[in-house]
Amino acid sequence: MRKLLSGCPTAVLAATMLAVPVRAADKPADKPAAKTAGSQSGLPAAISAETKDCLGCHRGDSPGIYQQWGQSKHYRANVGCYECHKADKGDVDAFDHNGLLIAVLVTPKDCARCHEREVAEFAGSRHSKAGRIIGSIDNHLAEVVQGNRAFKTPGFPNGNSAAAVNGCWQCHGSPVKVGKEGKLDAASWPNSGVGRINPDGTEGSCSACHMRHDFSAAQARQPNTCGKCHLGPDHPQKEIYEESKHGIAYSANVDKMNLNSAKWVVGEDYTAAPTCATCHMSATRKQPVTHDIGMRISWNNRPVLSVRPEVADAKMGLAGAKVGWEKRRANMKDVCTACHNETWADSFYTQYDATITLYNEKFAKPGMALHELAKPLLGPGFSSMIDFVWYEIWHHEGRRARHGASMMAPDYTHWHGTYEIARNFYGHFIPLLNELVEKFKGSTDANKAAKAQALHAKIDEVLNSPDHQWFLGKGPKNEPPAAGGHK
Ligand code: HEC
Ligand code: HEC
Ligand code: HEC
Ligand code: HEC
Ligand code: HEC
Ligand code: HEC
Ligand code: HEC
Ligand code: HEC
Repeated sequence: MRKLLSGCPTAVLAATMLAVPVRAADKPADKPAAKTAGSQSGLPAAISAETKDCLGCHRGDSPGIYQQWGQSKHYRANVGCYECHKADKGDVDAFDHNGLLIAVLVTPKDCARCHEREVAEFAGSRHSKAGRIIGSIDNHLAEVVQGNRAFKTPGFPNGNSAAAVNGCWQCHGSPVKVGKEGKLDAASWPNSGVGRINPDGTEGSCSACHMRHDFSAAQARQPNTCGKCHLGPDHPQKEIYEESKHGIAYSANVDKMNLNSAKWVVGEDYTAAPTCATCHMSATRKQPVTHDIGMRISWNNRPVLSVRPEVADAKMGLAGAKVGWEKRRANMKDVCTACHNETWADSFYTQYDATITLYNEKFAKPGMALHELAKPLLGPGFSSMIDFVWYEIWHHEGRRARHGASMMAPDYTHWHGTYEIARNFYGHFIPLLNELVEKFKGSTDANKAAKAQALHAKIDEVLNSPDHQWFLGKGPKNEPPAAGGHK
């Protein structure tokens, strides 16, 4: 592998390296003052001798990396290959590479040498904890139901599920295992999952959003950056955004977004449309950029029942446990009011909260109680259709309804959301539960028969409640269509 290339003596390189292909204005002489990096003390005054070494070979061996880096602000600030990839003796993943000790991974700890604030905020966020999914119900699906342990590598002699490696891990991140001479285990690398568990003990991967090697803020501000992970049936934020007026305004006005501006304050540097970053991360006239994406949201809509973010953060042991939802909502409203008035934003939240209440009260609470009562009559998780139906009600359509309402996408709220919840609740869940009761109510196993009785009683109670009695033909008759309305 890491063979010495005889054809690239350093003297030749030093001469050729000035050929870094950058625009005239980007020449080192015109370098803008480094503003964003936190502790700049160690910044080299010129491209370091070590980096010149790297460039000598990599300019020809990996022209893609070389060109991307050549366009980056890092290049202009003399931050080169070695400044990021250098390793200390004793780092688990360090290896000797043509005479210099380096590592392939550049973890948040490495970036923190210059970007302390961003790293600290990120480390306090749920993004950095996204690798802690072992033990979740979704994980059981990927490891057992969908997968097996046949994917064996030296770092994982007991094997992994290929479904988890190529699916979950690529978004959430996984532990990265290191073999001999810094070689990274192929099951755990490549991986830029946002909560990757690094060999140095840090959590997360900055290149989940900042694509190497240009590490450009302009790229990270675009919705596609988040769309690698935030899409699909269970969290379609990208699709939701695209169908919302905000997404429409963005695509109609990309050229007015001033994405390349060093400072990117909504209401000052652009007003045409908000992107994901605008609302969740970027600066307003009152707030600086934040790398803790939880600081502007007032609900966590991932669990069966929506909960306040401080409750979810407490479970994870995060400092966010001390930041109440009211404060987070005020942070978000401060974004909205760069473009809208306060009443508009307040009324939006009133509409959104009503959808959360509807979903929680009408479907999530009764559904959860029914599924709990059904469990003792079912086999292991996901061995019965009831498990799949209930999972999709809360995890797929239940989230879609909530996410759609939170980001102004009526089609997701309704047709992909509440409509499908209702169809599956009344058309599949209740009928399957009734079948289960029928199957066990006369069971010779007294325990099972009693469980079936309890389930039966709960089904009765739920269906006779005001929200559901229509299903039994009880309660107020449906309103007739308004005069002149659709039939
Ligand atoms: C003498 C030539 C040469 C020099 C000098 C050199 N590299 Fe490399 N490097 C290579 C080659 C060739 C490969 C590809 C090896 C392969 O494909 O297996 C490589 C691979 C790498 C890799 C990937 C290793 C892996 O296991 O995936 C990294 C990271 C890297 N180089 C960084 C650097 C850095 C940083 C420097 C400067 C400190 C540097 N290189 C100096 C030739 C060189
Ligand atoms: C700002 C920090 C930074 C600089 C500067 C930098 N890298 Fe990287 N490099 C990274 C990160 C981050 C990764 C991805 C590793 C990870 O996910 O931890 C990476 C990955 C790599 C890889 C392995 C992945 C691949 O795509 O093959 C190689 C090789 C590499 N860098 C070479 C270089 C070379 C050569 C230079 C100089 C031209 C350079 N890097 C400059 C941060 C940097
Ligand atoms: C040796 C110091 C150093 C290291 C290590 C470093 N950076 Fe930087 N970074 C800088 C400097 C200096 C700038 C330029 C600041 C400016 O021009 O305002 C910068 C700018 C950036 C920017 C803003 C680019 C833009 O378009 O405005 C991003 C994003 C970034 N770095 C990410 C990273 C990530 C991620 C890592 C680790 C993989 C990293 N940096 C490692 C010094 C460093
Ligand atoms: C396409 C990327 C992607 C894949 C693949 C993926 N997830 Fe996720 N997952 C996400 C995103 C994004 C969220 C957060 C959604 C939100 O905020 O609405 C999430 C949320 C979760 C949560 C809820 C976390 C919380 O805060 O409550 C769990 C648990 C989870 N995923 C586990 C898994 C498992 C296990 C797999 C594989 C079976 C998997 N995910 C596959 C992107 C992905
Ligand atoms: C969820 C996506 C995401 C992740 C993960 C992420 N960033 Fe960023 N980062 C952004 C966005 C978006 C911006 C642009 C903010 C703006 O200026 O509007 C940004 C900007 C930056 C900047 C420019 C200065 C600033 O604060 O605006 C630096 C430096 C930076 N990030 C470093 C990092 C480092 C280091 C990590 C890993 C610890 C990291 N980022 C992880 C999305 C991300
Ligand atoms: C590589 C995958 C990935 C990318 C890229 C990504 N996210 Fe996430 N995001 C996740 C996962 C996974 C979670 C769920 C983490 C958890 O709670 O366990 C999440 C959670 C969130 C949350 C909920 C935070 C909370 O505290 O509850 C927000 C908001 C968010 N992401 C916004 C963004 C934005 C904005 C971007 C782009 C700038 C982005 N994400 C890019 C994977 C990703
Ligand atoms: C106009 C502002 C705005 C834009 C643009 C926006 N969001 Fe949101 N986002 C919100 C609001 C408001 C909420 C709900 C906050 C709350 O619960 O109080 C939210 C909630 C979220 C959540 C939390 C979901 C959960 O399960 O709890 C995630 C993740 C998220 N957004 C990601 C994204 C992504 C990815 C994009 C771009 C594709 C995006 N957002 C674009 C305003 C925005
Ligand atoms: C950068 C400017 C900008 C920001 C920031 C912004 N919006 Fe908007 N918003 C718009 C534009 C432009 C429209 C489209 C207006 C129209 O329909 O004529 C819009 C439309 C809306 C709509 C109407 C949706 C529809 O389908 O008619 C709602 C509701 C809304 N925004 C709420 C919010 C909320 C809540 C926030 C903060 C979380 C926010 N906006 C942040 C620019 C913004």
